[in-house]
Amino acid sequence: MRALARIDLAAIERNCARLAAVAAPAQLCAVVKADGYGHGAVAAARAAQAGGAAWLAVATADEAGDLRTAGIQGPLLVMGALSAPELTVALRARADVVAWRERFVAELAAHPDADGTGVHVKLDTGMGRLGTRDPREASRTAAAVAAAPRLRLAGAMTHFATADEDAAFAREQLARFADWSRGLRAAHSGVPLHAANSAATLAIPESRLDMVRCGIAVYGMDPFGADPFRHGLRPALELRSYVAEVKRLEPGESVGYGRRFVAAAPTWIGTLPLGYGDGVRRALSNDCDVLVGGRRVPLVGTVSMDNITVDLGPEPPERGAEAILIGAQGSERVPAEEWARRLGTINYEITCGISARVPREYHRDGVAAPP
Ligand SMILES: Cc1ncc(COP(=O)(O)O)c(C=O)c1O
Repeated sequence: MRALARIDLAAIERNCARLAAVAAPAQLCAVVKADGYGHGAVAAARAAQAGGAAWLAVATADEAGDLRTAGIQGPLLVMGALSAPELTVALRARADVVAWRERFVAELAAHPDADGTGVHVKLDTGMGRLGTRDPREASRTAAAVAAAPRLRLAGAMTHFATADEDAAFAREQLARFADWSRGLRAAHSGVPLHAANSAATLAIPESRLDMVRCGIAVYGMDPFGADPFRHGLRPALELRSYVAEVKRLEPGESVGYGRRFVAAAPTWIGTLPLGYGDGVRRALSNDCDVLVGGRRVPLVGTVSMDNITVDLGPEPPERGAEAILIGAQGSERVPAEEWARRLGTINYEITCGISARVPREYHRDGVAAPP
């Protein structure tokens, strides 16, 4: 295979089981937006449910529709803002939606597809994106939902801005949410409360409330950008290719656009037929390791759209050898977090950035498993 993303569904399942155990008695909502953080939303959703996720969440109405079209059942929340046409798509997918304005609730209550729709009211406690900052407006919105015979007040939520890097600010947000939700609960008893993302679920126990919304950890990546294994998480995604061509480079000869690698000594160069068109970011030029033959070899030269080159060293290498870009080979491991560090970004962007051109292949602990 030129380029292949192999996804271990057993890893997703076990990560969910782990998160569900950590969160209990709170329920686990697995976030499968952005095509399951690049892993494939439908397959990830099924594995997450098998691992104990009671809820699924997506960002867009189309994502909800796609899950239902694929036959995914169960509680589903669309977390994003919805335009009028998107609202129709979300409702037809029998998804719960998020509200923070009375006007939106009025539109919803009058919508022909809204029968029985669950609505989660969002208070913005410090993220500054969606939700209302005004607790009174949030309460009025909740009251409007409760008063609409065709709607259900299904939840109250907020979202943390810094759970991965500043727990103190996350706790301030949680305190604001608690101040508001205390009154809300007095008026509407038993409304489920949810706030925690993966980082908060793992690091701020009191934030788990009635449900946690975990994304990155579901896929076995570390919400803090460190080693996921320290939380008992297992990365589900491996990005692999193979050595399609090998050639010897003499001192002074170069590889790739701009001649950004010039051999100082005789060496063997391997060409792997994937590039930035597949999600191997160009900024990794001369700054990445690839696993070939159980060892780390440096990516040398410029990442092109369809090819990268690696320095295999002085031994004449094997054409056709397997190359692991993200994942493990022998005792060596290149996690998505390593790419993120080199690129000055987060692991989320690494797996979301593996393009649609890369086929996804599913397995369970190495045994082929259709999604
Ligand atoms: C509202 C909301 N909740 C939960 C999550 C899941 O976050 P994470 O992937 O950090 O667990 C996201 C993702 O960004 C989100 O937007």
